Amino acid sequence: MGLFHRMVVRVLQFTDTHLFATPEGRMKGVDTSACLAAVLEHAFASHQADIVVLTGDLSQDESKESYVNLADMVSRYHPEIHWLPGNHDHKPLMKEVFGAYPAFRLELSRQIGPWRFLFLDSAVEGRVEGELSAAELERTRAWLLENRSDCYRAIFLHHNPVTMDSRREDRMMLRNAEAFETLLAEEGGVEAVIFGHVHQDCVQGRGGTLFIASPSTGVQFRPTATGLTIDRKAPGYRYIEFGTDGAIKTETFRVGSLPEGLRLLEGDL
Ligand SMILES: [Fe+2]
Repeated sequence: MGLFHRMVVRVLQFTDTHLFATPEGRMKGVDTSACLAAVLEHAFASHQADIVVLTGDLSQDESKESYVNLADMVSRYHPEIHWLPGNHDHKPLMKEVFGAYPAFRLELSRQIGPWRFLFLDSAVEGRVEGELSAAELERTRAWLLENRSDCYRAIFLHHNPVTMDSRREDRMMLRNAEAFETLLAEEGGVEAVIFGHVHQDCVQGRGGTLFIASPSTGVQFRPTATGLTIDRKAPGYRYIEFGTDGAIKTETFRVGSLPEGLRLLEGDL
């Protein structure tokens, strides 16, 4: 590690890329591949990063080709890419495709300087909402126990373990968020929990932990009384600096304006 690493650990997060097998693929009328290309170009022209984290819903059609497209696009920019699945993903295909790219890592945790990062799988086959399995909860506990002194901790996963709007219930969030929160509290807490799934920018402090939601690299959502609807915001990504003192500085960046072709439904903004 260079000198600069002693000051800060830099992470670029890209989430909910929702790519397709073919260039004709569209999500809500939007060319998610073109959006991702623009986002990646902006991100790597503007920031240096120690690692890249892709937090799920990387494919929209769960095709092998969509993962090849993604891996080709992202691995051009960075030699260390961590990833985890979302509700739209096909886990065996992800493993198979990403396994062929040296930049795509299979490690489920990472240590850089004083920071410890854990990558969790909250995706449940055939379901939109998430859940951490007993095995994932156990892995989390073991990681918390292993990394409890002289370090700071952050967890990445796909599903939101907190609601985006506390007045509204969220049927798509992490189903056992309470068990997750209890476990974190029992084992000393973490500095941050960082996720995707909700396709929006939101940072909430809760019990000493920052809960950080990030915009999609494609189509944006906003919470409503009945669920999620489309938002007119531009594609984006998140840049995070993890300080040696445990402080976290983060910002989202958006590329362009309303994504071209976006089809708004009745009730969408
Ligand atoms: Fe998504």
